[in-house]
Amino acid sequence: MKIVYAASEAAPFIKTGGLGDVAQALPLELSQIPGVEVLLFLPYYGSMKRNPKLETEKVAEFRMPLSWRDQYVGLYRVRSRKRKLRVYLIDNESYFDREPIYGYGDDGERFAYFSKAILESLCQMNLCPDIIHCNDWQTALIPTLLHGFYEDFLGKAKTVFSIHNIEYQGWVHPYFLGDVLGLDVSYDNAFQFQGSHNFMKSAILSCDALSTVSRTYAHEICDPYFAHGLDPIIREHAFKLKGIVNGIDFASNDPKNDPFLERNYDASSFREGKAACKAALQMELGLPVREDVPLVGMVSRLVSHKGMEILCAALEEWGDWDIQIAILGTGDPQYEEKIRALAARFPTKIAAALCFSKDLASRIYGGSDLYLMPSKSEPCGLSQLIAMHYGTVPVVHETGGLKDTVIPFDPQSGEGLGFTFSKFTKDDLHHALRRALTVFACDRNAWGKAVYNGMTADFSWKNPALEYLSLYESLI
Ligand code: GLC
Repeated sequence: MKIVYAASEAAPFIKTGGLGDVAQALPLELSQIPGVEVLLFLPYYGSMKRNPKLETEKVAEFRMPLSWRDQYVGLYRVRSRKRKLRVYLIDNESYFDREPIYGYGDDGERFAYFSKAILESLCQMNLCPDIIHCNDWQTALIPTLLHGFYEDFLGKAKTVFSIHNIEYQGWVHPYFLGDVLGLDVSYDNAFQFQGSHNFMKSAILSCDALSTVSRTYAHEICDPYFAHGLDPIIREHAFKLKGIVNGIDFASNDPKNDPFLERNYDASSFREGKAACKAALQMELGLPVREDVPLVGMVSRLVSHKGMEILCAALEEWGDWDIQIAILGTGDPQYEEKIRALAARFPTKIAAALCFSKDLASRIYGGSDLYLMPSKSEPCGLSQLIAMHYGTVPVVHETGGLKDTVIPFDPQSGEGLGFTFSKFTKDDLHHALRRALTVFACDRNAWGKAVYNGMTADFSWKNPALEYLSLYESLI
């Protein structure tokens, strides 16, 4: 089976968020299944061109129409020894030599170009894959462009569209259809949505299978509270919708090998290992070095859907509790400001690093006792999985992938993984954290079980990759 995986970002080449992790790990895992070959397509961004460690070779160069435009396409391939995972890069500096990689007035055109250039490249390579797997709004035009322009050569390829976050849909002015895509008015209906044109809507209509990154999120996006307007369209196409929970790459998220930790540990040595990491983290953040005080970690974008309103309200009160809180992240200036002020008010309780730091993120995962993720909505979430793999017990809002992955811990039976709350309120967050703190303080045995369960749970990509494979197989 030949699979084309199309994404606007993939680690280690380029990454701004969770999509970048998925687009790294899933194609790799799929390519390890016997009989499966994967071609990953990415834009050739300026930062990648300037990366001396990234070795590429030019495969082809051609021109491609984008409505009245006649655009250059450079097709490059990353030099690598992986035979069954080939990485192709679409080069056009006027579209992709930009930093940051998103956030421009012509983003619609940039990713329409990228999407079409992938299809055009497949024709140039004389390669018709079995599956084209598209991700989020940036590659959402692929199914429609395939039907509009490439039916002759790529008609047999089936398309899968995955929604990683329904908030970003790709909205453009209706003139885009003719002026950029070069499609006629018969396509108007596929895009028309609330007076604009919507990339995601077109993908939902025209893909062969629709997926999203957790089972609960698959239900949630049928509901207006979560769907950012698209719920009627999703409900109409729910027959082809499937939720597949993401995994994490155990190799790059492993407390046994993480070079940024004070001490490495695994499920058999976490007591000493985490204690050393905790003391080092307290020292680094200027918090009192105490083993008995519960340390609550958080690595997050500081934006509303990550639960910042209830978090900030709760922090006001936690300043009086005997706990420590370590927050790492950047985001909305209003929340950054609030958190900075709270940290100044409670210097022995709250430490905030309002920046991006992979090293410190590791040390928070390793050195914290608890990990907080009060997201209002969370399609899947990767950090709760990393936290659990580092033996840090999560406290989460029951939404999306948080609900699917954090099985509530029962101190009696010693089963489960974390502490959850169902109503998105400050008080419910309080109660969940209180329950966790009670076990932490009064039942060390049970606490050790929760840590151990998280560290040994299988959040690898093995099973999710097999689920995608059977989804692909069901289409061909
Ligand atoms: C988006 C979602 C996040 C998910 C990630 C990867 O970033 O917000 O919940 O884990 O995509 O699918």
